[in-house]
Amino acid sequence: MRRRMPSLRRSPISLTKRKGTKRTTTSTNGKEQILTNQELQYDIYQPFGPSILKTKMPQGFVNLMNAEADRILYDEKLSKEHDWSHNLAGNVKKEIAIDHNKIPNLAEFLITMSKTYYKHTIDKEPADGSKVAFRVWVVSQYAGDFNPMHIHDSNLSGVAFLKMPAGFEAEYKKEDHHPTAGCLEFLGSIPNHFARHSYLVKPEVGDFYLFPSWLTHQVYPFRSKGERRSLAFNVHFTLDNPVKGVNV
Ligand SMILES: [Fe+2]
Repeated sequence: MRRRMPSLRRSPISLTKRKGTKRTTTSTNGKEQILTNQELQYDIYQPFGPSILKTKMPQGFVNLMNAEADRILYDEKLSKEHDWSHNLAGNVKKEIAIDHNKIPNLAEFLITMSKTYYKHTIDKEPADGSKVAFRVWVVSQYAGDFNPMHIHDSNLSGVAFLKMPAGFEAEYKKEDHHPTAGCLEFLGSIPNHFARHSYLVKPEVGDFYLFPSWLTHQVYPFRSKGERRSLAFNVHFTLDNPVKGVNV
């Protein structure tokens, strides 16, 4: 697992734009005066704000999830039985509950990534005896569908992209400024100077993101023909059973 320290950026700067200059001083009226031909080191600390874990979901899980989703989505009776849209925020064609136990080792993968997130963000392991419960669903979107701004009602939440319309890349590239079609957007704060408030994610099949459930997010519509399919899930570290899906 790659891990970067996004909270600390360090870079040398030079007041004179000359590289390799030495720090020199001169004395004026008994006072030491620092000349401007020195290099300064600086740190920028970003100790606040939510962290997002990104990894690639193994292709085997993508294939098995798609097969299980196909089985339900292409059957109207099963789609109704598994309908999960009443618990969610999306304005999308279908949202179906998935039994994660039907995908071998998926639970282990989710537990591993959730515990990794836990450990790397608050620097400790979940307490002994912590329970990890999941709620997993699939969002099946077509042209014009969208998911308005919302949060989830759990501890951690995640998304993985399972399928994108064939024409999506071309559509995305057509947006010549601030492309957002079909994108997931996290909203970290209110817009302000010197504080990034939005993080846009372009969907790529297999990309997997894990984030705190209170982190507001939304999904933009797209126009291409075909399905944009994603897996979403909630992770509860403390409950015996997961509660519903999202809050708006
Ligand atoms: Fe969501």
